[in-house]
Amino acid sequence: MKKVLKPQPMLFPMPAVLVGTYCDDGNPDAMTAAWAAACCHKPFCLGVAIRQNRLTYANLKAKGAFTINVPSTSQAEAVDYLGIVSGRDRPDKIAVAGMEVDKGEVVDAPIISSCPVNVECELIGELEIGSHTWFVGEVKHIRADEELVEHDGTLNISDLDPLVYATSVAQYWSLGKPVGKAFNMGKKIG
Ligand SMILES: Cc1cc2nc3c(=O)[nH]c(=O)nc-3n(C[C@H](O)[C@H](O)[C@H](O)COP(=O)(O)O)c2cc1C
Repeated sequence: MKKVLKPQPMLFPMPAVLVGTYCDDGNPDAMTAAWAAACCHKPFCLGVAIRQNRLTYANLKAKGAFTINVPSTSQAEAVDYLGIVSGRDRPDKIAVAGMEVDKGEVVDAPIISSCPVNVECELIGELEIGSHTWFVGEVKHIRADEELVEHDGTLNISDLDPLVYATSVAQYWSLGKPVGKAFNMGKKIG
């Protein structure tokens, strides 16, 4: 038997990332986003859903660029702070959260260099859905902490220890154990 739940944007798990943008005056802003995902292979794109009242929304519209910064579980408190406080009320919110910021190398957006992975994106599309707008950014540059990058260029996921968000219970989680090799373990069937 299944139980019917009320409709909601439910998906498990979601990432908990920081979206970096520049304000008009050049001040960097960062906000927490759980509604973010990879959405295209050619070109490589990431998407993020931003509510229209966020400072990030205005910044993204004006600058046409953003960064996605992947925090680790040890940074959960700072991530939560950046998701509670707006840069409109605290222009120094990144510093207050104890996070370091740097200029993007390729796009007009700041990276949160304290986060182990920083992805720079150029805005190439947007879809006004309702309360939120889905912004699509083409991936232009990626930096990751040296010690996390394996010889073959992949990331060491257990050392990265990315922060995960569980909607409906509004909790931060960490990843569990690997289950199997993708594009491979399914071959056992049929
Ligand atoms: C766990 C978590 C996830 C969030 N996800 C989103 C999101 O996907 N989209 C969004 O617009 N706001 C999201 N928020 C809220 C923004 O991060 C928050 O309103 C922030 O203060 C906006 O900052 P800004 O005004 O400086 O851009 C989230 C907040 C938290 C705590």
